[in-house]
Amino acid sequence: MEQYIIKGGKPLCGEVEIGGAKNAALAILAAANMTDETVYIDNLPDVRDINALLGAMEEIGARVERIDRHTVTVNGSGVTNCIVETESMKKIRASYYLLGALLGKYKRAQVPLPGGCNIGSRPIDQHLKGFKAMGAVTRIEHGFIIAEAEELHGAHIFLDMVSVGATINIMMAAAMANGNTIIENAAKEPHVVDVANFLNSMGARIKGAGTDVIRIHGVKSLHKTEYSIIPDQIEAGTFMFAAAVTGGSIVLRNVIPKHLEATSAKLLEMGCQIHENDDAIRVIAPKKLQSTHVKTLPYPGFPTDMQPQISVSLALADGTSIVTESIFENRFRYVDELARMGASVKVEGNVAVISGVDKFTGARVSAPDLRAGAALVLAGLAAEGITIIDDIYFIERGYENLDQKFRGLGADMEKVSSEKEIQKFKLKVG
Ligand code: UD1
Repeated sequence: MEQYIIKGGKPLCGEVEIGGAKNAALAILAAANMTDETVYIDNLPDVRDINALLGAMEEIGARVERIDRHTVTVNGSGVTNCIVETESMKKIRASYYLLGALLGKYKRAQVPLPGGCNIGSRPIDQHLKGFKAMGAVTRIEHGFIIAEAEELHGAHIFLDMVSVGATINIMMAAAMANGNTIIENAAKEPHVVDVANFLNSMGARIKGAGTDVIRIHGVKSLHKTEYSIIPDQIEAGTFMFAAAVTGGSIVLRNVIPKHLEATSAKLLEMGCQIHENDDAIRVIAPKKLQSTHVKTLPYPGFPTDMQPQISVSLALADGTSIVTESIFENRFRYVDELARMGASVKVEGNVAVISGVDKFTGARVSAPDLRAGAALVLAGLAAEGITIIDDIYFIERGYENLDQKFRGLGADMEKVSSEKEIQKFKLKVG
């Protein structure tokens, strides 16, 4: 089992290149199967979730060619059975995107019930409600969701809550349905817009992505395209908080500052300086972070995927902060681990009351999920002494070369897989 080992306490300084957005890439790769022509996709992150999806696509007959680490071509003309059986697909939430993509193109899909991070109950009723409104019949059998339709037709769909996944899934299926679909109360996240732009570049007719009403005029077929995925706002935000929590100064390259506004606003409230230009952001930490309050919300609100990272930073701020998690109920599972490093956080339901402490001390902790795992890395980078993080499998689902990127910013951090390597690291850092 691999672990991260970190000797913390150094301000992180320098430049870091942000990769492509995992959550946009997952949906775009699924959508790439909706044409028989070859699609070229770049700025793809090389992370476990993406590689699991590419593997599943090959198993159902898609031809995937890796041009380089961040570029693939996909040809979906060989997709034959529309039954996704891959074991690893059960572990990633976004396997459900194959449901919308295959249903849209082939009018039939069978996909394992989604897994992903254990951050709360994650129903997909809204996805299924949308498919049903378009004429599909859905059922769950032996751990699979099966969706079938004689013919998909346009529909007027009101989502009961703002759901990124349901918005994207319905949009994909509707792109190849007969007639017009309207999605009301749609999610506005940057990756919803990115998937719509990708589908439109293949000949789909989608308008309004990025607002809460999306209108889709179904087309008979989609064609080839070349597409570059947007930068990952969550990876970017994680590095912004790394600057804040270590008292450093980091320039992030390949970002869209507009997508990071909610994060930047909180960092400003916490006393950081933020300098933006077209595709870069610099975050400079103050001597001491200030407390603030934050509530997670759908975009353009503060993202739930950044909640653990801001909480870790607030745990070292001056004063008391209140963090309210309004999207997923189970997203404070890292708090017990953080307490082992000296943080003072009290969780009541979906609210965490964080009393800032002067310092963290290194400890052995384990990553409970993807973003919480990244937040524990931030805690380790800020802590005095050595931190070892177990279960980094979760972190690698969504971060490419995290240890290497932090080393590039001056961190003492390595990926290790044996007691011997841990000892070697300890000797090296003294
Ligand atoms: C996506 C992201 C995830 C992020 C989340 C919220 C991917 C692969 N994952 O997840 O990283 O944390 O958006 O920004 O892109 N809900 C229902 N019924 C549904 C669908 C959702 O009740 O059919 C609820 C969920 O339980 C949750 C809320 O709606 O409380 C938002 O979920 P949703 O936006 O769908 O998240 P995901 O698409 O799963």
